[in-house]
Amino acid sequence: MSHSCCRTWFASALASLTLLMAASGALRPQEPAVPPKQAEPERSVKPGINEKWKSDDIDPLVALLEAEGRAIYEQREQLAALAGPRKGSVVADVGAGSGFMAEIFARLVATEGKVYAVDINALLLKRLAQDAAAKGITNLEVVVCGEREVNLPPNSIDLMFICDTYHHFEYPVSTMKSIHEALKPGGQIVLVDFYRIEGVTPQWLMDHVRAGEEVFTQEIIDAGFELINAHYPPFLTQNYVLRFRKTEKD
Ligand SMILES: C[S@@+](CC[C@H](N)C(=O)[O-])C[C@H]1O[C@@H](n2cnc3c(N)ncnc32)[C@H](O)[C@@H]1O
Repeated sequence: MSHSCCRTWFASALASLTLLMAASGALRPQEPAVPPKQAEPERSVKPGINEKWKSDDIDPLVALLEAEGRAIYEQREQLAALAGPRKGSVVADVGAGSGFMAEIFARLVATEGKVYAVDINALLLKRLAQDAAAKGITNLEVVVCGEREVNLPPNSIDLMFICDTYHHFEYPVSTMKSIHEALKPGGQIVLVDFYRIEGVTPQWLMDHVRAGEEVFTQEIIDAGFELINAHYPPFLTQNYVLRFRKTEKD
């Protein structure tokens, strides 16, 4: 083959290859890479609801929680018996407040068991730790948590007690995810919250509590739990008590 013939053959082969690549899109200018979408952080479902609970002035908060006339406080022994932690079990009181329930749980689980009193308010917990020490309670540990996570070791808890606190979770999806992670397989939640019934519940409570039993139940099921039972104890005038079990997520 002559040189000129060879050049012609090469030029026509190159042209065919270029045409082929153009048709297949291989020569299209590269589109700028789209950065992967970041998951939006969960928004507060009730901004401002914990303003009071973040206060350093804790005496009024303790007085509110331990008020005579507050059924949860007056009937605390019955409520603890209904929650029913077993001797030797590990309990977390999430949103422990002044900690009167955590102290009862510490007695019920006995020294073979353990209670974590968890709250966002470090001063309430400091007061509780001092009170527990003065009473010689050795199996109660306080844990300052964040607004989005309970700050407990994974797979460590048998029973999470959440009393008048779920409606204070500003970031319920994140908080419930951390609760799910901290529970042992088959671990349970006992949830105590307010009835919210149009025309029956006082207006201040309707405004304060963002949703009722049905909505909270669905949110907790969505977080990886099943409802085991519901109690409407006559000794609690304003509250229902729900028990859930952790299901394993796939
Ligand atoms: C109405 S008080 C109930 C306290 C206690 N459970 C009782 O029934 O006496 C609500 C408590 O939840 C706490 N809290 C609010 N948001 C929280 C969160 N995301 N995680 C843990 N505790 C929270 C508040 O600081 C407060 O102590």
